[in-house]
Amino acid sequence: MSDAALETAFTKLVGVRHPLIQTGMGWVAGPRLVSASANAGALGILASATMTLDQLRSAVREVKSRTDEPFGVNLRADAGDARDRVRVIIDEGVRVASFALAPSRDLIAELKDAGVVVIPSIGARRHAEKVAAWGADAVIVQGGEGGGHTGDVATTVLLPQVVDAVDIPVIGAGGFHDGRGLVAALAYGAAGVAMGTRFLLTSDSTVPDAVKARYLAATVKDVTVTTAVDGLPHRMLRTDLVDSLERAGRTRALVQAVRRAAGFRKLSGLSWPQMVRDGLAMKHGKELSWSQVLLAANTPMLLRASMVEGRTDLGVMASGQVAGVIEDLPTCEELVARVMSEARHVLGTLPTPG
Ligand SMILES: Cc1cc2nc3c(=O)[nH]c(=O)nc-3n(C[C@H](O)[C@H](O)[C@H](O)COP(=O)(O)O)c2cc1C
Repeated sequence: MSDAALETAFTKLVGVRHPLIQTGMGWVAGPRLVSASANAGALGILASATMTLDQLRSAVREVKSRTDEPFGVNLRADAGDARDRVRVIIDEGVRVASFALAPSRDLIAELKDAGVVVIPSIGARRHAEKVAAWGADAVIVQGGEGGGHTGDVATTVLLPQVVDAVDIPVIGAGGFHDGRGLVAALAYGAAGVAMGTRFLLTSDSTVPDAVKARYLAATVKDVTVTTAVDGLPHRMLRTDLVDSLERAGRTRALVQAVRRAAGFRKLSGLSWPQMVRDGLAMKHGKELSWSQVLLAANTPMLLRASMVEGRTDLGVMASGQVAGVIEDLPTCEELVARVMSEARHVLGTLPTPG
């Protein structure tokens, strides 16, 4: 079966060869991973929430210097400087804007007017309906098995539910790692799959080897969802840090949070009021303690400790359940070729009607 058989509304919309997305993961999806994914024919998405504006601009330029293929930038719609980030995306001619939370109608309009394809990530049907009504071009639907901040409805239930609810292309995320998963998602009516953990575990990802080794050693039972880090359900590897945060009382949690906040402030150049504002924005109307507000603003710092510094003892290792079944570190080129060839094979083995 030829590649043409796996052309979808998504591949046509964005102009990529394969119906695959490498998602924007803080500290992980940098220029090297994104350009490797793009050159392999997937849509690579740069994670910008953990970058300053200047870092974002130079990261975008670095990707452009490494590939002529389309790519995207992921940003937090609730970030104080979301508008400035949108400006960078438009000025630099980035093909796709991806959002960690539903963007406002205005932001969608501004991007679309400039010819940028808008693909928010959502975790519930009503959010998909909302962004579709506001003009989003496609949505990534993340089921509960996905890594990072996540919901509690499984991909197998959420994906077809959203496919039925909207008439824009829907890309499934959460739990995908191979060609069988891609074919299953297409069968649900999706236009492709987005993978985070699977692309983190490639030789093109800059995540330190010691950290990759922890993911490779994990079983599906070693991946947990906790609210102890930032008050929101967050899927990650279960570590001593997670255990200690879950056990800590209010005072100890606040002391730990302030210490981490101080470290992150130095790294990010954010002011304390900005950090508190970003932390409060992540509350989503929930009752969070002050330590959780600070930790919410600090999640990037906790991810950085592992994803950049290799501190498996101190950092948070966001992960999908799928880490429990991943056992190798292919290049992005090998991974994409393998997923596509498995998908073609599986399509050829499905029972035919009659
Ligand atoms: C290490 C890590 C960091 C992540 N950071 C972000 C982020 O900054 N923004 C975002 O929208 N999603 C983030 N996510 C979620 C992924 O983009 C993606 O939706 C998820 O990993 C899909 O599930 P999978 O891991 O089962 O493939 C992150 C996930 C991981 C594993």
